[in-house]
Amino acid sequence: MQGSRLAGLAADAVETLVQRRPDAVLGLATGSSPLGVYDELASRCATGNLSLRRARAFLLDEYVGLPPEHPCAYRQVIEQELVRRVDIDPAAVLGPHGGREDLGAACQDYEHAIREAGGIDVQLLGIGTDGHIAFNEPGSSLGSRTRIKTLTARTRQDNSRFFPSLGQVPRHVLTQGLATIGEARHLVLLATGLAKADAVAAAVEGPVSARCPASVLQLHPHATILLDEPAASRLELASYYRECFEGKPSWQGL
Ligand code: GLP
Repeated sequence: MQGSRLAGLAADAVETLVQRRPDAVLGLATGSSPLGVYDELASRCATGNLSLRRARAFLLDEYVGLPPEHPCAYRQVIEQELVRRVDIDPAAVLGPHGGREDLGAACQDYEHAIREAGGIDVQLLGIGTDGHIAFNEPGSSLGSRTRIKTLTARTRQDNSRFFPSLGQVPRHVLTQGLATIGEARHLVLLATGLAKADAVAAAVEGPVSARCPASVLQLHPHATILLDEPAASRLELASYYRECFEGKPSWQGL
């Protein structure tokens, strides 16, 4: 499937949800993968077809040691990529506070805030080349909650494109855990490009294992994985998945 079609489908899932429940709780991801979805949401808001005025949102993760106003902090990134382009109340968009002195308390407060909001309705996700979701690196407990994690060298390298230099990519992050993410009512993972093909194959067709944290999606009752052709190219059953998608009844939605 083409990248723009993927973004449109994910935006449709958000729009359908918000029409049904204007105060829906959205789970936002950073990185390149969801950018097309944010473009779609922004253009639908601009034309008046969608309003996020009453919606609330939670970020997946945040770098430790960056104040929220730092240009590379995920809270700032989401501000630029989505919040200031739609009508959501900026105060209703929360992320884990990686600049706080007591990081353990920051994690507990974040879990509490998600629970208080009634949980996340739709969670957008990307996938790292090592199979991570949010910042749950390989070895993350499938039962994990929001906590501090150490980034792998590969993830720091992958994410260094957003920083002035590799040395400035923080080593530590706060991230929703795999169990936290698993409680969202609908998971929508987007992946594009050949660099993601091995991670996607391991997540979808490999064993459920902490070795590939994204494989935890196999346990979720409502997980949608949206892929372009290169990202899907190492899936053994790709033609079967295509057939399922093409024959999907329209009433079913994503
Ligand atoms: C980061 C983020 C993840 C994201 C991943 C892939 O590590 N913490 O949430 O899924 O990067 O990013 P991209 O979509 O840019 O490939």
